[in-house]
Amino acid sequence: MAKTRHRVDFLVLGSGAAGLSFALQVADFGSVAVITKDQASESNTQYAQGGIAAVMDAADSFENHVRDTLVAGVGLCDEDVVRTIVGDGPLEIKRLIDEGAVFSSKNGSLHLGREGGHGESRIVHAADTTGEVVEETLLDRVRKHPNIQMLEHCFALELITDHHLGQHVSKVRPDIKCFGAYVYNERADAVETWLAKTTMLATGGAGQVYLHTTNPSVATGDGVAMAYRAKARVANMEFVQFHPTSLFHEDARSFLISEAVRGEGAILLNKAGDRFMVDYDPRQELAPRDIVARAIDNQLKTRGDSHVWLDISHKPAQSVRDHFPRIYSRCLEVGIDITKDKIPVVPAAHYMCGGVFTDVDGQTSIEHLLACGEVACTGLHGANRLASNSLLEALVVGHRSAQRAIELVKTSSWMEEVPDWDDGGTTHPAEWILISHNRDELRRIMWDYVGIVRSKLRLERASRRIDLLYEETEAFYRRSRVSVGLCEVRNMIAVAYLVIRSASIRRESRGLHYITDFPDLVENERRMTLI
Ligand code: FAD
Ligand code: SIN
Repeated sequence: MAKTRHRVDFLVLGSGAAGLSFALQVADFGSVAVITKDQASESNTQYAQGGIAAVMDAADSFENHVRDTLVAGVGLCDEDVVRTIVGDGPLEIKRLIDEGAVFSSKNGSLHLGREGGHGESRIVHAADTTGEVVEETLLDRVRKHPNIQMLEHCFALELITDHHLGQHVSKVRPDIKCFGAYVYNERADAVETWLAKTTMLATGGAGQVYLHTTNPSVATGDGVAMAYRAKARVANMEFVQFHPTSLFHEDARSFLISEAVRGEGAILLNKAGDRFMVDYDPRQELAPRDIVARAIDNQLKTRGDSHVWLDISHKPAQSVRDHFPRIYSRCLEVGIDITKDKIPVVPAAHYMCGGVFTDVDGQTSIEHLLACGEVACTGLHGANRLASNSLLEALVVGHRSAQRAIELVKTSSWMEEVPDWDDGGTTHPAEWILISHNRDELRRIMWDYVGIVRSKLRLERASRRIDLLYEETEAFYRRSRVSVGLCEVRNMIAVAYLVIRSASIRRESRGLHYITDFPDLVENERRMTLI
């Protein structure tokens, strides 16, 4: 492979809301490269439906939004972080509007939607395609900025740290530094060395680790895995959020039915036609997500049904079509008219509340490495994320971490001693079946044993099986030339390991982590899980 070296001030890994908003803020202060593994728009951001939670109405208050976030997070949110992020929300909405985003409005004011866990209507949205509007707005600005290069189909393989200089780092040390990243350029079939004064990790979530997920195929947890291998601190990985209502249809994999549909009055029914949420929580369909997802899971398991129904057909048809044009048309494609028919839904893995541990300015435990968005764990979400708080976090922390990065590059230089990627002794793999089999097996293990309801026995089983997959995949990796498929499986295994290990450490049930052996909330266990 040809060896290529690049030098930039700011290296951004990932092109969702977090990476793009960071890139835009730092671009006037130095050279920026945005590395992204697919086409630039392919991200969780692109598929966001419900919207962005922010206090935009005089009847609402920061205090209310903070309270709802803390309640959803079940005692594990960092209250200072919550106050900072909630407080910066309106500014970020204004910034997006100034940059060209058009959100739904009514009588000249923003139309504010409602979602589970929110005591007020405070969801700024663009009908049910908010993510597309945010992504396109930011991408358009990024593409026009002369200091930003966008590199598509480039896969970040490893963060470069002291370890690559031959200084082996055996445990978490406060003085590990990041010097950039090794990036596999798919089109050139070459691993390139990107030296950077500051690296922003914004690679998003890891929903693909589960068999059923709302996330697109790029969401394989690469950032958390890379950071973990680089010995960064990783936090709260047991808190995987399952969205209660993903469309159950063989021709429509991974399609979300937004919580905003319940916010507009949709109800959940079991196959017998009973409105079962009344038996689980006084907030019924608008209880926080963990409660609704567990209630559906319980209905499916006790009744032996394949799905439950979500019904909005009692609302005026035109208003349903206006509010949810994307959901209406996607369901119609598979023969479901949501203005007349009930929608078959099941829970699916949706959001990783844990991730690379950072402060509210995106600083990780590694110097010159920042992280932001779904890959990070700032303390905003605690044990369960409040709906529509993640785009908010990506935008606010993207902005704040840019201020940190601008200061950092002023006193930094490139580490020229970094060696190029060494792929000596490796060959193109002939055993592709091993990779695809291990990927499928991993996703099924996680779904069956590390899902909505866990037990010690299931976690132990999952752990044994993941160990085996790890050994096989590592052996394969050591003798193979780099490929995206292989690296993704390797990263997914690392994420699975972190989720299982974190879940095994927590000896209580809290928020999204429910384990039958420890069904109660335990005050003594109220702390982050740090690895
Ligand atoms: P992403 O938007 O996922 O971007 C990550 C980027 O990193 C992508 O470009 C990806 O290709 C790239 N990448 C990943 N690995 C690598 C690698 N190894 N090398 C190079 N590039 C890499 N949140 C809300 O607040 N409101 C909502 O309404 C909402 N709706 C949602 C609906 C759906 C269907 C889904 C899936 C999520 C939703 N979420 C919502 C969650 C929210 O969209 C995400 O948490 C948020 O967009 C994450 O932004 P991000 O920039 O951190 O990551
Ligand atoms: C949804 O629209 O239901 C998703 C909102 C979110 O994940 O925050």
